[in-house]
Amino acid sequence: MGRVFSVANQKGGVGKTTSAVNIAASLAYAGAKTLLIDMDPQGNASSGVGVKHGEGVKTSYELITGLSDFAEVVKPAEIKGLWVIPANRDLAGAEVELVQDERRAFRLKDAIENHLSDYDYIIIDCPPSLSLLTVNALVAAQAVIIPMQCEYYALEGLSQLLHTIHRVKRGLNPTLDVRGILLTMFDGRNNLSRQVAEEIKRHFSDKVFGAVIPRNVKLSEAPSHGKPALLYDPRSSGALSYQEVAREILSAGGVK
Ligand SMILES: Nc1ncnc2c1ncn2[C@@H]1O[C@H](COP(=O)(O)OP(=O)(O)OP(=O)(O)O)[C@@H](O)[C@H]1O
Ligand SMILES: [Mg+2]
Repeated sequence: MGRVFSVANQKGGVGKTTSAVNIAASLAYAGAKTLLIDMDPQGNASSGVGVKHGEGVKTSYELITGLSDFAEVVKPAEIKGLWVIPANRDLAGAEVELVQDERRAFRLKDAIENHLSDYDYIIIDCPPSLSLLTVNALVAAQAVIIPMQCEYYALEGLSQLLHTIHRVKRGLNPTLDVRGILLTMFDGRNNLSRQVAEEIKRHFSDKVFGAVIPRNVKLSEAPSHGKPALLYDPRSSGALSYQEVAREILSAGGVK
């Protein structure tokens, strides 16, 4: 049965998409059949793996509004073992369209339910909000990965995210777990970055992934080539650190 992870944080630009893309690619590279679902109307995860998501392409919007079947929206990525359900701006309309739907929070869960056993891992990239799209991702997931940028305001907004996770857990998805906080854009030469990383580790000890993602220019260049870092520059520190995260997930030992 596939393990489903949502990569969520309502703060913008903290490394959600970079993490979703590179964790998914690293899992596939390690031999795990992986599905990456883009639940952000910005469609960055789709472009990050080089999957077309322009007009006319069937996306997660069609999937969650019931206009298309699962099989119609899944596309193969360049890397072997990785499939993608892309997203585009259409997805932004789903929230309004689903407002009257009693099962609106369950649309993604219902849509993927019969396909979980086809994948070893499913990774869902969330938008920078606590909207219905993020709630759908949290309801569909078994666990949440929370990327946190090693900067001063990192912890700001975290309690709101944890509160939303708690609410989803109480009402909609009782087994949802925080799989781990992932420290991103870490700069070891910067005192503040080190202090923030230490503070987060002190706060959340066993919930923090052992692997820390460094600030690495290859990670920011790779999406413009439509490639995860391990195809763009396999020896870069960014590519290697996301492979470490994938190993922790595969061994299920690093984070409880
Ligand atoms: N470890 C890193 N080193 C250098 N640049 C990074 C790193 N992680 C992410 N970036 C860059 O920082 C920017 C924000 O990252 P990303 O898009 O992954 O964040 P996000 O949380 O998905 O953003 P949004 O909230 O808009 O969806 C991007 O330009 C990305 O390429
Ligand atoms: Mg993003």
